[in-house]
Amino acid sequence: MFAFFLCFFIGMWFRGTSIGDGIWTYLTRIVFDKKLPEFFDNQDLLLNEERHYPTSWGNVGYWKGTSSFPEAGENLAKELGYFANLATRDVILDVGFGMGQQFYIWLGYFHVNHCHGINISKAQTDYCRKHVLPVFKSKLDIFHGTIETVNLPNEMFTKVLVLDAIYHFSDKSKFFGMVFDYLQKGGVLAFTDMAIRTDKKLPFFVKHLLRLGGIPTVNQNTIDELKRSLSQQGYENIEVIDISPFIFDGFHQFLREFGHGQKSRLRPYLLLRYWMAAIFTKHLASKYIHYVMVKAKKS
Ligand SMILES: C[S@@+](CC[C@H](N)C(=O)[O-])C[C@H]1O[C@@H](n2cnc3c(N)ncnc32)[C@H](O)[C@@H]1O
Repeated sequence: MFAFFLCFFIGMWFRGTSIGDGIWTYLTRIVFDKKLPEFFDNQDLLLNEERHYPTSWGNVGYWKGTSSFPEAGENLAKELGYFANLATRDVILDVGFGMGQQFYIWLGYFHVNHCHGINISKAQTDYCRKHVLPVFKSKLDIFHGTIETVNLPNEMFTKVLVLDAIYHFSDKSKFFGMVFDYLQKGGVLAFTDMAIRTDKKLPFFVKHLLRLGGIPTVNQNTIDELKRSLSQQGYENIEVIDISPFIFDGFHQFLREFGHGQKSRLRPYLLLRYWMAAIFTKHLASKYIHYVMVKAKKS
């Protein structure tokens, strides 16, 4: 028992490193489920079931005027698309595309010219390959991997988009540098993100709850730090808007109702995950986190 708790705390403390993630995955597998899925997998399909046609959103949602998860997911994508001024000539790199639902927005709603997608999740990339790729055929290319593992030609893209995923990357500021090379001159990086509300150090438990939710400490930045990091990587015309009022309350309300309704269908690992998200959105987000949209230009 002592060894178990020792491993638990070591795993929790070092989450985000390969040792910590290894220990953590092993323990959660023992405790919660024999077949633990990837951290990002297809379980969020459950959240989409209310629609009469299949959708596969997996983001926090933009809850203005809706209480529907798929509608809120779609709204967030559209907000980002308008903010990025998507246009028909755009060639897009989308990093962290979930199960690919957002390609319906970039290609089907904004009618951009072409999309390339990268996703670290094998399960989600396979889902997208099966369900979304055939719809858009030659307009879409998807890759399983990360910005570090996928090689693309420099200056290929007019826009790089990251929808509700950038805070999960191993190091946001390195990501800014890598995609700078991929952007054409005049190109734009646009993303949604979580920024820390305070300049003071985050309380220990908040910092580690965020880590448990897949947000490494190095990505726990304030808006000023975010702007500084973008401009250090060479970006200009940096714009940040705070959209928190349309994010956390609506998402919390949805999770609460979903949790009550679906408790018996959720595996313990998932129940824990949604329960932690519900606590976070209710008690911590408004105090410690801004949800923001950010865009920055390569001049
Ligand atoms: C919260 S989900 C958002 C999914 C999707 N964008 C949506 O709005 O429905 C975060 C996504 O980022 C992906 N992701 C996390 N880390 C990544 C990385 N380092 N490189 C590429 N994708 C990553 C996950 O697999 C997942 O698809």
